[in-house]
Amino acid sequence: MSTVKEHYENVLSEVYVWMFDGFDNALQKNADFFKRHKISPRQSGIAIDLGAGCGFQSIPLAEVGFNVTAIDLDHKLLSDLENRSAQLPIKIVQDDLVDFDKHTQGNAELIVCMTDTLCHLESKDKVKSLFEKVVTSLEEKGLFIITFRDLSFELPELERFIPVKSDDDTVFTCFLEYEPETVKVHDLVYRKKDGNWSLNKSYYRKLRLSKQWIEEQLTKIGFTQFESTIDKGLVTVIAVK
Ligand SMILES: C[S@@+](CC[C@H](N)C(=O)[O-])C[C@H]1O[C@@H](n2cnc3c(N)ncnc32)[C@H](O)[C@@H]1O
Repeated sequence: MSTVKEHYENVLSEVYVWMFDGFDNALQKNADFFKRHKISPRQSGIAIDLGAGCGFQSIPLAEVGFNVTAIDLDHKLLSDLENRSAQLPIKIVQDDLVDFDKHTQGNAELIVCMTDTLCHLESKDKVKSLFEKVVTSLEEKGLFIITFRDLSFELPELERFIPVKSDDDTVFTCFLEYEPETVKVHDLVYRKKDGNWSLNKSYYRKLRLSKQWIEEQLTKIGFTQFESTIDKGLVTVIAVK
C-alpha cells in the first residue's frame, strides 16, 4: 500500500487539476462556496488551509482578504499553488497538516480542511487530536470548515467501480474495497502518450467518517454551533467556536 504522500506523487497530483475540470473552474466553485456562506475576514484575517493542495481554497480566501497559511505534503500541488498565487498573501508550507501549529502565529479566524482531506488521516484518533489543535488555534467565534465524502455507507458489488473522469488521452477509474474503519481506494489512471496507453495504479486508505461522528467530536471539544449539510454523499460542516 502507498502512503498518502506516495499515492499523490505516483498517481493523483498529475491528474488532480484535470479531475476538477481545470484550475479556473475549481477556483470559481470554491469562491462561490465562500460567498454563499458569507466567509470574509472580520477579525484577525488569519486563515489556515489544511491539505491545501494546489490552492482551490487558499486562493479564493486570499482574494477576499485573508492571510492564508497553506499546508500540504505534496510538492507538485504546492508548486502549482505557488505559480498561481504570486501576488497573494499565501504562505506555503510543505509538511504534515497535523503539525500546522508549528507554522502559524496568533489565533486564526478561519481554518478549512476541505475536499476529503480529513479522510486521508491515518486514524480517528489522529482526527480527534487535530480537532483539539484546531479549537485551541481559533479565535472566539472562529470558524472551522470541513468537507468530505461520507464513506460510512457501503456501495455494493460492481457499484464500487467508479468512473471518475475520462477524455481522449486519460481514463481514470476508482475501485473501493471496504474495511471496518477504512476504505482501500484503488486509483487506476490510463494515459495516452505518443499513441501508447500506459497504466498508473496505486491504492491508499481513507477513513470512513460520518457527519454525526464529526459533529459529536467537535461538540465534545467546545464547538457550539453548526451549519451542516449532506448532499449526494458530500458532507459540509461549518462549526463555530
Ligand atoms: C483531496 S485533496 C484536497 C486538496 C484541496 N483542499 C482541494 O480542495 O483541492 C487532499 C490533499 O490533502 C493532502 N494531504 C493528505 N494528508 C495530508 C497530511 N497528513 N498532511 C498534509 N497534507 C495532506 C494531499 O496531499 C492532498 O493535496
